[in-house]
Parts: sequence; C-alpha cells; structure tokens
Amino acid sequence: MRILVTGGAGFIGALAVWRLLDLGYDVCVVDNLSSGHRSALDRASRLAGRPVEFHLCDVRQTSQLISIMQSFRPEAVMHFAGLKSVAESVACPELYYENNVQGSLSLVQAMLQCQIDRLIFSSSATVYGANGVPPFGEDAELGPVNPYGRSKWMVELLMRDICSAHPEFSGIILRYFNPVGAHPSGLLGEWVQGSPNNLVPYVMGVLQGRFDRVRVFGSDYPTSDGSGVRDYIHVLDLVEGHVAALNLPKGLSVFNLGTGRGYSVHEVIQAMQSVSGRIIPFDVVDRRPGDVAVSIADPCRAHQAMAWKAERGLIEMCQDVWNFAQCSPKGYELE
Ligand code: UFG
Repeated sequence: MRILVTGGAGFIGALAVWRLLDLGYDVCVVDNLSSGHRSALDRASRLAGRPVEFHLCDVRQTSQLISIMQSFRPEAVMHFAGLKSVAESVACPELYYENNVQGSLSLVQAMLQCQIDRLIFSSSATVYGANGVPPFGEDAELGPVNPYGRSKWMVELLMRDICSAHPEFSGIILRYFNPVGAHPSGLLGEWVQGSPNNLVPYVMGVLQGRFDRVRVFGSDYPTSDGSGVRDYIHVLDLVEGHVAALNLPKGLSVFNLGTGRGYSVHEVIQAMQSVSGRIIPFDVVDRRPGDVAVSIADPCRAHQAMAWKAERGLIEMCQDVWNFAQCSPKGYELE
C-alpha cells in the first residue's frame, strides 16, 4: 500500500513515516520544511532500512500536489502538515487560516481530482474548548477558543461535507491530546528551535541547559496540586492510531487519541526528574491565558472501532524524551 504523508519531516510526521516504512508501506512525503527537517526523514528511512520519496512542496500548491499524486498513486493520505502554535495563531490568525484551512482544502481538491479517497487528518483536542466536562467524548460540544483551534475545527467541517457529498470518501479525523515522547533509538523526536511553548520540550530545554527554569503556569486550578492536567500520549501510540485508521470503512470517522488518564504539570516535572536523575528548577507563575484546567480524552470509541489503545505510560514517554535529548543534543540542527 502507498501512503502520501504531508508534513512528514515534522515531529509526529517523521515518526509516522518511520513506522509506515517499517511495516512495509511505500511512503511519499510532501513538506515545505518550514518547521520540519529533511534529516528527520533521512533518520526515519535509515531506522526502517527502506527509502522514502520526498518532495519539497507546500500543500497549498494544488497543481504540484496533483502531479505528485498522479505519479505516486497513493491509496491514502496522512495529513500532518500545518502550523500549531496557539500564541502565534492569536497574533497572526491569517497565517493559520491560510496554512491549515486553505492548505487542507487544496489537499482535498487534489485528492478528489486524482480519485484518492482516504484522508487521515491530524486534528486536536483543542477543538473541545473550555465548555465541556472532561473526559471528552467525541460527541462533546465543540468550541475552540483560539484561531489555531478554529482552523482545526474548520477542516473537520470541510471533511464532514466532503464525506456527505462523496460517499466513496473516507475522512478520518484524529483528535490528538498531548503528544510526547520520541523513538526509543533517540534519533527521532521533537526539536523546537528557539523557546518552545509546550511543557515537555521546555523541560527538555532546561535539562539541556538551554533554559534556566521551568515556569509552571497556575497554582489555583481546581486540580490536585493546582496546576493544569493534560492527557499526555506517547507519539508512537499516536502513530499506531493512524496505522489502525487505514482499515476503517468509508465515510466520516472521528476519534480521540489519548490515554484517558491525566497528569499535572508537577507530575510531569517529577517524572522527568526521575528519569534524568536531575533536579529541574521551576517557578510557579500566573495562569497562561487560554489554558483550560483539565483536558482528558475518553478514548473508548477508538478502542471499539479500531482495536486501538495507548499502551505507553508517562515514565516511558519521559524516558524516550530524555534519551532523545542525550542522543540528539542539537536536535536536527547540525545535519
Ligand atoms: N505549561 C507550563 N509551563 C510551560 C508550558 C506549559 O506550566 O512552560 C502547562 C500548561 O499550562 C498546561 C500544560 O503545561 O497546563 C500543558 O501545556 P502544553 O503547552 O504542553 O500543551 P497544551 O495542553 O496547552 O496544548 C497542546 C498543544 C495544542 C493542542 C492542545 C490540545 O500545544 O496544539 O495541546 O489540548 F491543541
């Protein structure tokens, strides 16, 4: 089976490419390398011992996508390409509507033109917003509170309409909770240039001496220790969810990809301390605007429909992140 992977040089995309190659799929990647790294793909290919086809291409370039699809003839598309910073989306919403919404529309147009009818889309738990009561089931009310979340929601609506109009189409929406972790080899993981927004990459930066202290946002959330609680999921479990989605029937499907279990910021810092054997200094500061107190998945639907379940726990995620920090101290920078 041939799979086209957009954003295949990014954090989750490159791990998906490795896993697909490893399972024997033929993989073609399109990536504009705005945040991804060509060397991540080389590493994925080396780890799997199989080649990967690569095209420097932005998903908004519909005609280039069409010619790639006509020559590679993929049976399915995994769509990871997109921008993902909440703060940047508030400052420059037009970038998010252009890259995430227009980019996805361009991809769908190319797929329809080339009669490729299976799309697996990276959505986000952020579409649930702040209204619901966790754990969130897929039918919970949606209400994202920032342009990034709204851009994901819009693509979900687009996919819903495409599936209604084209009964042969399989549209699979995967709502990620908080992906963390790395390949156990230490060769593939999350590498953020500059100052990361997300907790675990920031903690990793402190462990590497790139930053002095972690800021814990908030001490008065209604949680066990007052910090925010999230459903962290190992990126390799997340990738398995995409592989499982290749076998779903036609039509629209929506799944949470999470573990169903939440951890506070302090618990994550504690876990990173225990796997690294180092003290992680932190300061407790004010809440970060836009953060919800608790975000936890109800992952039952994915278990029932795809026999998929997250297998790895927080310690394994942290071990793999720490291992990546040691094996790839400069990420992909020097290659
Ligand atoms: N946090 C800190 N200090 C930091 C960074 C984060 O205390 O330096 C806290 C946050 O307040 C939150 C938790 O750590 O309680 C997790 O924050 P992240 O930024 O790692 O993740 P978010 O839950 O805010 O957001 C992530 C992705 C989004 C996605 C969302 C889905 O960044 O793209 O999960 O819930 F939409």
